[in-house]
Amino acid sequence: MNRDFILQDEIDRQHEIALSLHSETAGKRACVITFGCQQNENDSERIAGALELCGYEITDDPDSAQMIIINTCAIREHAEIRALSEAGQFKGRKERDRSIKIGLCGCMAQQSHRRDQIYKSYPYVDFVFGTDMHHRLPEIVKNALNAKKRFSFITDAPHNEFGVISEGMPVRRENRYKAWVPVMYGCNNFCTYCVVPFARGHERSRRREDVVAEVRSLVELGYKDITLLGQNVNSYNGGCDFATLLDECASFDGEYRVRFMTSHPKDASSELIDVIARNKNVAKHFHLPVQSGSSRVLKLMNRRYTREQYLEKAREIKAKVPDIAVTTDIICGFPTETDEDFADTMSLVREVGFDMIYTFIYSPRVGTVAAKMEGQIPKSVSNERFKALSDMENDIAQSLNDRLVGKTLRVLSDGLNKNGIPCGRSTQNKIVTYDKEIPAGTFIDVKIESAGAYALSGKVI
Ligand code: 5AD
Ligand code: SF4
Repeated sequence: MNRDFILQDEIDRQHEIALSLHSETAGKRACVITFGCQQNENDSERIAGALELCGYEITDDPDSAQMIIINTCAIREHAEIRALSEAGQFKGRKERDRSIKIGLCGCMAQQSHRRDQIYKSYPYVDFVFGTDMHHRLPEIVKNALNAKKRFSFITDAPHNEFGVISEGMPVRRENRYKAWVPVMYGCNNFCTYCVVPFARGHERSRRREDVVAEVRSLVELGYKDITLLGQNVNSYNGGCDFATLLDECASFDGEYRVRFMTSHPKDASSELIDVIARNKNVAKHFHLPVQSGSSRVLKLMNRRYTREQYLEKAREIKAKVPDIAVTTDIICGFPTETDEDFADTMSLVREVGFDMIYTFIYSPRVGTVAAKMEGQIPKSVSNERFKALSDMENDIAQSLNDRLVGKTLRVLSDGLNKNGIPCGRSTQNKIVTYDKEIPAGTFIDVKIESAGAYALSGKVI
């Protein structure tokens, strides 16, 4: 038996516990507050599914909830501060009503120094659970309802030994036409700046048949935009390679799109690029984080590719899939990054011509190799680099989008945006606004009439 999978007996036991709680949870509400990446959003949908199984009504409004779970992110300090300040919001409410239960989970909860801080400074947080404990939520809820003391459900095994996959627990999807489907969890790469391998454990893949069955049922239910998720999808090994899995997931009848997040450049294969080029249901968008354009910095980051190898990969993608959007992540101010290193990043960005860059200022993370490196860069320098990169990217994105004016794009409607304007997304994941309200989840053709750096605008035809 593969130790990565939870046995069916255990899943059945959790379902029984959930049912046994219904008399206690009747008429009560639960709220899940999410920080961080798509992986966390998907985890929250699973947490909400389990809470619903326990008998709670799910609400977006924490003030009306008797059970509040905060799903945290640890990727940068800023994310941690936001999650802690969210937890701080509930102090007064808890003082007025001791029966309210507050739990904290996610990547921050997985780190012992943060747990110590939460125990010391946030006495109104009742319980904490780790990133591989979601299948035990009914048991955790039962404890929370009955325990007199605070408690935690954390696997304290060394980082390379924890981590499990549970199939058969419910998911409460936030959206009725867009869905996340995890294909693998964890990461073995240990990029020297990154906390993920510590917070989410070693790589483990869901079974090919489980992933394909989930995607098939989503397509049958009418989902139109499905994102296969993993910290490094290219190292998927649940019965086939990722290119084959993607192809299979995108081969059902009907119009829908399959996306994937995230790829590591060292593992993004030519076969994967071929699948994107030939399968019409695979979205024409490749998010390929480069992190830096300097081979020296990439080495210090333990990325295991050079600037030239990245450029070669980007060239192959653009040559094989001419209408593709390529986006990336870049970290400014990694320890020892010189002006020359940063100039290399700027020139790589110009050379590739990214449709969008997610730029981050380096944030030292406890336990990572980079946090102990000499040559930490002053914030003022990182900020300047951040701004220079953002300004240049604005111009690049604008000129790439200008080329789309006059073209007709297939757009999946998102209904109205928060300003009441009809909007949707193209296969490249570009935001498109248009002149007519179209029900969310419908595909339409839009003739593009004008372009900005981060959105296009046109008429429905
Ligand atoms: N500091 C700044 N950015 C980081 N990222 C990951 N770790 C850090 C860190 N310590 C960025 C990387 C990654 C994205 C999800 O977050 O660019 O691709
Ligand atoms: Fe972090 Fe690197 Fe793994 Fe991405 S590949 S999650 S940046 S360690």
